[in-house]
Order: sequence, then structure tokens, then C-alpha cells
Amino acid sequence: MEVGFLGLGIMGKGMSMNLLKHGFKVTVWNRTLSKCDELVALGASIGETPAAVVKKCKFTIAMLSDPPAALSVVFDKDGVLETIGSGKGYIDMSTVDHPTSTKISEAIASKGGHFLEAPVSGSKKPAEDGQLIILAAGEKALYEEITPAFDVMGKKTFFLGQVGNGAKMKLVVNMIMGSMVNAFSEGLVLAGKSGLDPHTLLDVLSLGAIANPMFGGKGPAMIQGNYSPAFPLKHQQKDMRLALALGDENAVSMPVAAAANEAFKKARSMGLGDLDFSAVFETVKDLQH
Ligand SMILES: NC(=O)c1ccc[n+]([C@@H]2O[C@H](COP(=O)([O-])OP(=O)(O)OC[C@H]3O[C@@H](n4cnc5c(N)ncnc54)[C@H](OP(=O)(O)O)[C@@H]3O)[C@@H](O)[C@H]2O)c1
Repeated sequence: MEVGFLGLGIMGKGMSMNLLKHGFKVTVWNRTLSKCDELVALGASIGETPAAVVKKCKFTIAMLSDPPAALSVVFDKDGVLETIGSGKGYIDMSTVDHPTSTKISEAIASKGGHFLEAPVSGSKKPAEDGQLIILAAGEKALYEEITPAFDVMGKKTFFLGQVGNGAKMKLVVNMIMGSMVNAFSEGLVLAGKSGLDPHTLLDVLSLGAIANPMFGGKGPAMIQGNYSPAFPLKHQQKDMRLALALGDENAVSMPVAAAANEAFKKARSMGLGDLDFSAVFETVKDLQH
């Protein structure tokens, strides 16, 4: 199966490598073209532009940072819209809001092409290990055709119906995660300041009803101040912003998420946007001075 892949950031790199390893023929494009080199060394071809990739491949997957990036790759010069058409499928796995996804879907359909949104839950390591949770929505026939690729990239795929539902589900999940990491950060600071060993807190948490892979995975590195990025903080703040907009649209009051968003904004203003989202811990520590 021949697939195109647009966007070789932290996630796209791991996902496209998995496709290559499992025998897919992959044609890659990245805005910063040098990021294609590692994939080419593993057997991928390069497309000079998104349009060139779509022209060559029946299916093209995108994994881009945010709504402006997702829209630019489709609508700008040399973009997907120039060559998409009947018999071709475009699968956007970026985390965006549902208006962005709908706009892309309608544009692709107007050219006779097929569209699926498929944002993912999981991070750098699950992307590398093919263990993502894929939240697909859109054209069912395209979903069925692209399932072999999803099976390689993910451990479970949900088909959620019409375009927009995948985006919404992803934003709800990340809103919860963004609030959780803030509560966790406050707990670590409170433990330390009140004379407890934060490592013991991790042990206690790991045995109880609120144990989860995020506390266990991020906690030790946070205590050491190590925020090597698996999920960049700037993207987590984007997800909080988009989830709050979804709350706005549906008149859902979310004071906890709003406070968490403020902490991520503060972290960005402190220059922490490219670090892991767990670096929001630094803003909680900063409040104590
Ligand atoms: N990392 C995670 O744990 C994780 C987990 C689940 C979902 N996600 C979501 O997956 C998406 C990708 O995340 P990531 O962690 O891989 O991010 P990343 O490492 O920052 O990569 C972002 C990608 O988007 C490209 N890009 C940015 N602006 C662009 C533009 N205007 N035009 C074209 N390309 C552009 C970048 O190209 P350059 O290389 O040229 O900058 C890069 O390929 C995001 O929507 C994120 O929210 C991430």
C-alpha cells in the first residue's frame, strides 16, 4: 500500500517510520525538508510539496501542529487541494478543532476527494511503538480502506461518525489531561513544601484509584526538572484553548480547565512552550516565590 505522509514532527516521524517498517511504501513531505532525511534513509521517497505527494499517492496522511498548519497545507499554494480528486483520500491526524476539520473536509469533497479526520491519543513513545488510540470520523469507506495503516500505527481505532466527532473527542481527552497535570503539579509542590518526599507521593499514588500512566511516566522526570519534549507544551495549550472554545460553543462552564489553560499560557510566557507539557510544573513552583 502506498501512502503519503505530511508532517514529520515528534509524532509524524514515529508514525511514518512504523508504516515503513511494516512494508508500506511511504512518500514524505515536511515544511523543513531536512527532517525527511532520516525517513529517506529507511526507504521513504520525498515529495517536494503536499500537492506532489497527493498526486503520487492514493492516500495521504497529515500530522501537523495546529489549525493554521492543517489549513495551510491544504489551501495554500502547492497544497493538497491542487491535486486531490476522485479516488484519492486525505486523512488528517493532527489535533484541530471541528470547524477546521469541517472546512478541510468540505474543500476536499468539493474536489471529489475523500476525507477522514483521525486525531490520536498517545504520545511520542506510543507513536514509535504503534500503540496510539485513533479517533476517526468522516467517510466510512475511506476508514475501511485505510484501516491497515491504522492497525500499524495504533492499538485501537474508534470510528465516531461524522467529521468533527474525532476532533471533539480528542479535545475532551486533552482537556482532562491538561487539568490533571496541573492538579498533579500542585500536589507535588504541596508534598515538598509540607515536608514530604515527592517520590513517596508517587508511590502512594501508584497504588490507589487515581494511579495512571501519566503520573507514573512523567512524575520522576518532573521531580528532576527534566522536560524533554514528548508532547510540546505549546500544543497542550492549543488543545486547552480549543477545548475551551468547544465549551463556549456548548455553554459548558469549565473553571478547572480555564485555570489550567492560564497555567499553560503562563508557561509559554516563561519560554517553556517547546518543552514537554509537564513543564507546567515550573509555573506552579514559580507561584510560591
Ligand atoms: N506529541 C504528542 O504527544 C502528541 C500526542 C497526540 C497528538 N498530538 C498532536 O499531533 C500533532 C503533531 O504533534 P507533534 O508533537 O508531532 O508536533 P511537532 O513535533 O511540533 O511537529 C509539528 C509538525 O507540523 C509542521 N508544521 C507546523 N506549522 C506548519 C505550517 N504552517 N505548515 C506546514 N507544516 C507545519 C512542522 O513542520 P516543521 O518541522 O517544518 O516545523 C512539524 O512537521 C499536533 O496537532 C499535536 O497536538 C501530539
